[in-house]
Amino acid sequence: MSIKEEIIELKEELEVTIVAHFYQKDEVFNMADFTGDSLELAKFASKDKNPNLIFCGVGFMGQSVKILAPKKRVMMPRIACCAMAKMIDVDYYRQNVQILEQSGINKEDIMPVTYINSSAEVKAEVGKMGGYVCTSSNAKIIIKRALQSGKKILFVPDKCLGQNIAIDMGLKSCVVGDGNDPRDADIICYNGFCSVHQLFELEDIEFYRKKFPGILIVTHPECKPEVCAKSDFVGSTSQIIKYIKELPLEQKVAVGTEYNMVNRLREKNTYVLSSTKPECPTMNETRLEDLRDTLLSIKRGEYANEINISEETRRYAFEALNRMFEI
Ligand code: 13P
Ligand code: SF4
Repeated sequence: MSIKEEIIELKEELEVTIVAHFYQKDEVFNMADFTGDSLELAKFASKDKNPNLIFCGVGFMGQSVKILAPKKRVMMPRIACCAMAKMIDVDYYRQNVQILEQSGINKEDIMPVTYINSSAEVKAEVGKMGGYVCTSSNAKIIIKRALQSGKKILFVPDKCLGQNIAIDMGLKSCVVGDGNDPRDADIICYNGFCSVHQLFELEDIEFYRKKFPGILIVTHPECKPEVCAKSDFVGSTSQIIKYIKELPLEQKVAVGTEYNMVNRLREKNTYVLSSTKPECPTMNETRLEDLRDTLLSIKRGEYANEINISEETRRYAFEALNRMFEI
């Protein structure tokens, strides 16, 4: 029996749902009951009726489901940690708040917003300060709401997403430690980024525009601000898929996001906006064998790589996540 057949058989036998992010390898992606972007996956998985969930993605995604649905058993074939989420922990977060305080901004005047690509512990810190979680598909709406508090936004950990939203909304932004006075900025960004989305450069856009006049450039908001500024469309993974689906088949498009997703978008007239292969190393850790082994562990009652979060952390992280869902 092939691994694929084993997985199908085990799935029928066990009370389990498998979800996968768009960046997963095809072989894993094709085994999922539901696929989506970070927001869609968190929403779907937390409401799903099965007691067991296997999340094919990166650590913060599985954690988000556990925060929202603590009674559910959430397992990951690999506990692969998003490199951007790893750039911030509770100590770094507190240090950044302190830096702002030393610059003359009172803690009470800071409204934190964390990108969902962060650990449960960082989300909890944000929750304690009355802040919000956002995803790439709703960052603008959440920041708009957060600004209604009249406070300055501390946006963690992705400086590119924070800067891109600021440009889009005509607001001033800075990055902690960049030499600018944070008191002059509306959105103060933590100095984190996604190494995969940093690969897309202005030269890549120039190259494709020259080679195929009329080509459309589509990027994810984790790309550098100068790259997003020159793009025809900027959106989350789901928004990119929807945008491209609605284009006429003959329309050429170059896409700046993870390779696995771009590769399955369309058969023709779709290009990766880079001369190198933009693969997310941690998303690509999950293999078909790992998925099969996780299912086997459920059958044995062992529940491999189960996500556990302390109740205190979960409670505060839930506050930040729930504020997003309430909007
Ligand atoms: P989406 O929320 O757009 O799926 O993005 C998640 C991510 O990690 C992008 O790098
Ligand atoms: Fe994290 Fe970047 Fe991978 Fe997305 S592509 S999971 S932000 S490292």
